[in-house]
Amino acid sequence: IEAQLAGGPLSGKRVLVTSGPTHEPIDPVRYIANRSSGAQGTAIARALSALGAEVVFVTGPADVPPPEGVTVVPVETARQMREAVEAALPADAAVFAAAVADWRVQGARDQKLKKSKDGLPTLAFEENPDILKEVSHLGAGRPKLVVGFAAETDDVLANATAKRQRKGCDWIVANDVSGGSGVMGGADNTVTVIDEAGPESWPKMTKTEVAKRLAARIAEALN
Ligand code: CTP
Ligand code: CA
Repeated sequence: IEAQLAGGPLSGKRVLVTSGPTHEPIDPVRYIANRSSGAQGTAIARALSALGAEVVFVTGPADVPPPEGVTVVPVETARQMREAVEAALPADAAVFAAAVADWRVQGARDQKLKKSKDGLPTLAFEENPDILKEVSHLGAGRPKLVVGFAAETDDVLANATAKRQRKGCDWIVANDVSGGSGVMGGADNTVTVIDEAGPESWPKMTKTEVAKRLAARIAEALN
């Protein structure tokens, strides 16, 4: 609010942020998920808002509460997230920090699966929509700046550079999640921002600091 009153560098700009994990149901009481806490995406939304942006925050079931002063759109599944993202556009910039489940369970049940004498259940999967890729390839409605994340456990730079190409986004923020729950859920992050010009490695810092630096970079790119 202060930044808005002071005419922050992002005032008048609308920015979409996705955050958190998605939950993909198996039956009414069980789901597939991942270790995303939503901390990095939440910090980014907060930092963008502090610079004066109007932020639409589309979030899966996260561990941390959403920031104040943003429009929160809670979702559960990848398909709900895609719908919410479509509804939130157009935007000047979009940051895809969510850890979207790549797969959903085929034929999720309306009733709770029961133990049976017939043996163990088998799960089959189908692929979820790639929201970042879809938005990156929008024609007229494409945000001017599309930022993706890349969670990698090995060959971080090579994989993230290839991912930037494949997704068609402007920037990829690559982070090494080989530490497992130490990184996903932790307070710190070590990222490399890859744009057209190549990779820029940032030192290890808190997720809040990553968010502020990224928000400042976004403000610079939009102005
Ligand atoms: N993403 C998305 N929709 C999906 C999957 C991913 O919008 N269905 C976005 C994420 O929010 C992130 C980026 O795409 O910004 C990269 O996600 P990541 O899981 O690293 O990439 P994938 O293409 O899913 O590749 P893989 O998991 O196989 O490495
Ligand atoms: Ca993935």
